[in-house]
Amino acid sequence: MNLLIDDGNLGLCVEQHPLSAIAERFGTPCYVYSKAAIVDAFEQYRNAFGDRDHLILYAVKANSNIAILKLLADMGSGFDIVSGGELARVLAAGAAPSKIVFSGVGKSVSEIQRALEVGIHCFNVESAPELERLSQLAHAAGKTANISLRVNPDVDAKTHPYISTGLRQDKFGVPHESALDLYRRARELPGLRITGIDCHIGSQLTQTAPFAAALARVLALADAMRADGIEIEHLDLGGGLGIRYQAEEHPPSIADYVRTLVGGMGNRACRIMVEPGRSMVGNAGVLLTRVEYVKPTPDRCFVIVDAAMNDLVRPALYDAWHDIRPVMRATAGEERLCQVVGPVCESGDFIGRDRMLNVAASDLLAVMSAGAYGMSMSSNYNSRPRAAEVMVDGDRAHLIRERETIDDLFAHESFLP
Ligand code: LLP
Repeated sequence: MNLLIDDGNLGLCVEQHPLSAIAERFGTPCYVYSKAAIVDAFEQYRNAFGDRDHLILYAVKANSNIAILKLLADMGSGFDIVSGGELARVLAAGAAPSKIVFSGVGKSVSEIQRALEVGIHCFNVESAPELERLSQLAHAAGKTANISLRVNPDVDAKTHPYISTGLRQDKFGVPHESALDLYRRARELPGLRITGIDCHIGSQLTQTAPFAAALARVLALADAMRADGIEIEHLDLGGGLGIRYQAEEHPPSIADYVRTLVGGMGNRACRIMVEPGRSMVGNAGVLLTRVEYVKPTPDRCFVIVDAAMNDLVRPALYDAWHDIRPVMRATAGEERLCQVVGPVCESGDFIGRDRMLNVAASDLLAVMSAGAYGMSMSSNYNSRPRAAEVMVDGDRAHLIRERETIDDLFAHESFLP
């Protein structure tokens, strides 16, 4: 799916809408998403599974704007949530509780109670004490919670250490060698019904082999459980499929990834669930920003833009690469080596280092592949209001989140009495 079209005089467009017009109307910095690109990614998942019994659970943390959640809910997507806040969002967007799973290592009492109340599809339980807490709360409420244990398969996802989750030293899940014992315990506890096994090994995976290795571990556990009289209905294989941030990267396609999972299942009938986040929205969005100043120093040339690490933290946090493209083609001047940085008072506040660009003050830039973990990880650091969000549908652009105002910044603060 080609999100950006370079339309000569109009410059870069998202679908048929020029980014320059969006900057004019909504200001910058601004996240801009393509509806068609999100629809396309969801359809790629759905088509790849075909008739195979499956459930696609969009990982809300990647981008939790309610317009995106509603778009996905309307197409039949389920949701993977990790907090009471995400639960409220997906319900507000019209999600069916029967298509919501709840992941996360630190589910609080009130979050569990609310999820029990609405009757979600499954709790992905990450520890023995969480299992006990869930049992007590479900029993007290007269409910039965469907559960799967998140199994830590001890597989190297070969991704950035901050976003690798399936190694034994990570905080996530239950070690695979103790999972069977914990399932036996779950079988004894009131208020619980074992329905599946869950596993998520990390994010931005660029190979299928770690997925296959994790699946093999999970299937071995399923076989051991069956021998013990515990049958499951689903395998939740998490998210993690990488996207292309740079031209030379070649992550597996959605079809290849799904083929790996379906193939690895052999002739087992149970339902496959996946929790894609990044691969659903990452390449459906750009961060639109304007150049404030071009500042040559004796050593380097800084391009200071109006977006910063509070808007897009991935470069600062993971040293992540996002392509940066001028919205309009330059008519004069030459490319030179630039450091694209924001106004925040930290040297770590960069959007892109060592980029060849030909830009001048007030030019617009599109920071690519910013649809996932961009806005959802943004903050108000340096008392900067959060950016606006816009969704393009064909030739129309719709505001889906207003830019925060200065008043919003301290609206919830108070003086001492
Ligand atoms: N399921 C669980 C339990 C997860 O923890 C995650 C992501 C996903 C699904 C979705 O994974 P995806 O398909 O998006 O790879 N902020 C980081 C990524 C953190 C991912 C956290 N967990 C980044 O900007 O790269």
